[in-house]
Amino acid sequence: MLNGEFQVGSVEETWTLAKELAKELKPGDVVCLEGDLGAGKTTFTQGLAAALGVPGRVTSPTFCIVQEHQSPDVLFVHMDLYRLHGEEDVEAIGWEDYLARGAIFAIEWPERAGSLIPSTAHRIVFHHLGEEKRRIAIDTGDHFAV
Ligand SMILES: Nc1ncnc2c1ncn2[C@@H]1O[C@H](COP(=O)(O)OP(=O)(O)O)[C@@H](O)[C@H]1O
Ligand SMILES: [Mg+2]
Repeated sequence: MLNGEFQVGSVEETWTLAKELAKELKPGDVVCLEGDLGAGKTTFTQGLAAALGVPGRVTSPTFCIVQEHQSPDVLFVHMDLYRLHGEEDVEAIGWEDYLARGAIFAIEWPERAGSLIPSTAHRIVFHHLGEEKRRIAIDTGDHFAV
């Protein structure tokens, strides 16, 4: 799977990278998006959603925590856990029920969910380098694939 550190210079390049990753995702996959506010987590999620065939616009879910997007092929669940305070809060939104639904998940602020994040989750870390420059480190945990 797609792994490594990438430097992008525009929103379009971030979307392109997200589309590359989306090609490899399957139902049940969890993509964790880490990084400061404005680092590009939601923007990357828009690229994933577009590549998965989700209709309409994906916006920041900060105020509603979870947004579900149905594409013809797969359910895409976008979470932003920023406003939650720990594992109990995360469980209270119905975490286990969501995970059991076989969706593809994009989770901003996964740190809030602590050990509830499945060990198989893909981890993406965003760093702000400049106005439009970002470093995006992708770790799908699949380094030994041939
Ligand atoms: N290369 C880039 N990748 C992602 N976002 C970028 C990039 N260059 C500029 N931006 C801008 O940075 C902001 C990123 O915001 P957002 O994706 O909501 O971040 P987060 O979800 O991490 O808080 C957006 O306003 C976006 O237009
Ligand atoms: Mg965001």
